[in-house]
Parts: sequence; structure tokens; C-alpha cells
Amino acid sequence: MTTTCEYKPGLDGITAAYSGISSVNGKEGLLEYRGIPIEELAEKSHFLETAYLLIWGYLPQADDLEAFEAEVREHRRIKYRIRDMMKCFPESGHPMDALQTSAAALGLFYSRRVLDDPSYIRAAVVRLLAKIPTMVAAFQLLRHGNDSIQPRDDLSYAANFLYMLTEKEPDELSARVFDVCLMLHAEHGMNASTFSARVTASTLTDPYAVIASAVGTLAGPLHGGANEEVLAMLERIGSVENVRPFVEECIAKKSKIMGFGHRVYKVKDPRAKILQKLAEQVFEKFGADRYYEIALEMEKVVAEKLGQKGIHPNVDFYSGLVYRKLGIPQDLFTPIFAIARTAGWLAHWREQLGENRIYRPTQIYVGKRNQPYLPLEERSL
Ligand code: ACO
Repeated sequence: MTTTCEYKPGLDGITAAYSGISSVNGKEGLLEYRGIPIEELAEKSHFLETAYLLIWGYLPQADDLEAFEAEVREHRRIKYRIRDMMKCFPESGHPMDALQTSAAALGLFYSRRVLDDPSYIRAAVVRLLAKIPTMVAAFQLLRHGNDSIQPRDDLSYAANFLYMLTEKEPDELSARVFDVCLMLHAEHGMNASTFSARVTASTLTDPYAVIASAVGTLAGPLHGGANEEVLAMLERIGSVENVRPFVEECIAKKSKIMGFGHRVYKVKDPRAKILQKLAEQVFEKFGADRYYEIALEMEKVVAEKLGQKGIHPNVDFYSGLVYRKLGIPQDLFTPIFAIARTAGWLAHWREQLGENRIYRPTQIYVGKRNQPYLPLEERSL
């Protein structure tokens, strides 16, 4: 059989879109949002401004930013029916599943699919950015039998989320560190969940379905779910002495070490560098974390054993340690990633709508041909 197309597993190196949202240089470890280096944004911006930059394509003027922040603040609350629906979710359900279901449910209330109406687009952007954190925090409280907490209008986006989780106003450092974490996770080119968002967007379905499909894709352990797995792995290793045998065993068994490796970065992920510094800041203020020592040893041993293959810490390696120090439960790490990445997904949704053609790749058929249909009684394994 001859074919003109070549199959690349994982679509490695295949171009799926032109995009002006972010650029990733995997050889040098550089990440830019709309041309601005991530390090500069992490130092000078804040999450909602960065979300604005990603989604609308430019840094806002002061009054634009103020209006955008006010709109997001105004839409933070969720309808009581969504809350009531969430009360029926099983307590043992994973928060990512709860988030995917709740995000899709927003479409029941707001979907009109007027995708050529800028005010519909703006309202969907605002609602999703505003309500996703409230839904994550609500599930955390509801699954423990507590009522959810109403958002506080006097708090920033990051501080309000931490407040809704704990009913305690966070200190300045925790709120700032969390805000930077959101910025670092907001966008990263054509990764699996973003591709999923764009494929869904290309059918011209509603934006709530776009975000719900992206959340489902982010949940997997090879993608956003890795941050949760990293802490579980560090706990399993238990001590600095156990690191080397653990890494050697993973290599011998060809199993993946969570928080390491990346399809694009062949050097240390620039976000991991920033996260590591943030981790050190929170440890200085709130006390050291014994798993940090294990993490540092892992980075050293993995560099020694796998560095030549381009396997280095990715964004997920240090984020879990930061979140844990901020008192965030482990299974909320990936939903927090989703809160942040909603900005990137929405930017890609808008970009996809701008030059839309439905995604419809091809396949190379490798199955049988010309098979007879056998009656039931003649079939054998
Ligand atoms: N540990 C050990 N070996 C690894 C790792 C790892 N974490 N990552 C890649 N490798 C090795 C593979 O075994 C393979 O070796 P081989 O060529 O000898 O067979 C080689 O590096 C290439 O690996 P692939 O799986 O083909 O790389 P791919 O680009 O498909 O996967 C991925 C990238 C999924 C991130 C992978 O590195 C991985 O599974 N890492 C662990 C999970 C993780 O941390 N995911 C988070 C990624 S960041 C994000 O999604 C936000």
C-alpha cells in the first residue's frame, strides 16, 4: 500500500495553527506571551492583566484594565443551581471531574453561540475567568460538607481564590506567589489541552464546551495531572538517600519520572526556574519543606542520568511544593492549573474563531479489508 502522508505519533513537529499568542523556544528555554518574556511578566504583571494581554493581544490601558477587573469581579458568583448540582457530586470524585462538569454546565445557562457578536465573546471570557475559580473553591468546601463561601469583592483575583478555599484572607506573600503561579501556567502554545480547546472551538460550539473539553484533556497525568503525581512521588521516595535508587529503577523499568521531560523544552523549563525561586521564598517565610531537599537531589541525579537526553524539570516539578506550603490540598493542584490556563484557552478560542476551519486530520488505515460478515454461530476467537 502506498501513501502520501506520514504519521507522526503524538503529532510531534506537526504544525496545527498559526498563532500570535505565545512562543516557546525549547532549546534555549525561553517563553514569551505576546512577545513579552515570562520572567518580566512574573516580576511586573499580575494574572488578570496577563490574561487580558493573552486574550485581547495587547497590554491594557489603565481604564481598560480597571473595567475588565471590575467585570470579572462582578461575575465571580455562581448560580445557586450550579452550586446545588455540585452538592450532588460524590465527595470522592476528583476535583478535575467536578470542574469539567461544572464548566460544561455553564453552557446550560449562558450558551447562545452568537460567535460573531463581540459582546457575547467578551461576556463569555469574563464569565469563565470569573467563575472557574469559584467553582473549584466551591467543590472543595462542598465535598467536606460545608457551604461554599461567597467571593469577596475587595480582594484580588488570587487572594479571593485563596480566601474562598479557606475563609481566611491570605497574607501578601501567599497571594503574590499564587498570582505569579497563575501567570506562569496561563499559556503554553499548542499543548494537548490547548489543541483540544482549538479542535472543539473549530466546530463553532459554545465556549463553555471549549473550556470543558480542555479541562478534561489537562486532567491526564502526562499533562496537567503531573503536578499532583510529583508530590506523591516525592512522598513515596521519602528521603534524600532513596533518590538515586528510585531514579535508577525508573530508568531500568523505562517508567517516566513525574515532573521531568517536555516535548518542547530540552533544557530546564523557564517556569520551573521561577517556581523554584518562589518555593524558596515561601519556605523562608513559612518554614522549610523536607520534600524540597528530595526534589533538589532528584534534579541533580536526573541531570546526571538523563540530562544528555534533554530531560530536565518541567513546570510541574516545583509547583506542587509551592501549593502545598500555601495549604492547598494535593488534588486541587491540577484544577488550579486549569484556572490559570483558562486564559490561554480563551485566547486560542478567539484566535481560532478569527480564521476558523474545522479540524479534520486524516488517518492511515491499517486494518483488515474485504472481510466477510460471519453469522454469530460461525464466529470463533
Ligand atoms: N522520565 C524518564 N524518561 C523520560 C521522561 C521522564 N519524565 N520523559 C521522557 N523520557 C524519555 C523517554 O523514556 C524516551 O526515551 P527513549 O527515547 O530512550 O525511549 C525519551 O525521553 C522521549 O520521551 P517521550 O515520551 O517520547 O517524550 P514526549 O515528548 O512524547 O513526552 C512528556 C513528553 C509527556 C512530558 C514526558 O516527558 C513525560 O511523560 N514526562 C512525565 C510527566 C510530566 O511531568 N508531564 C508534565 C509535562 S508539562 C505539562 O504538561 C504542563
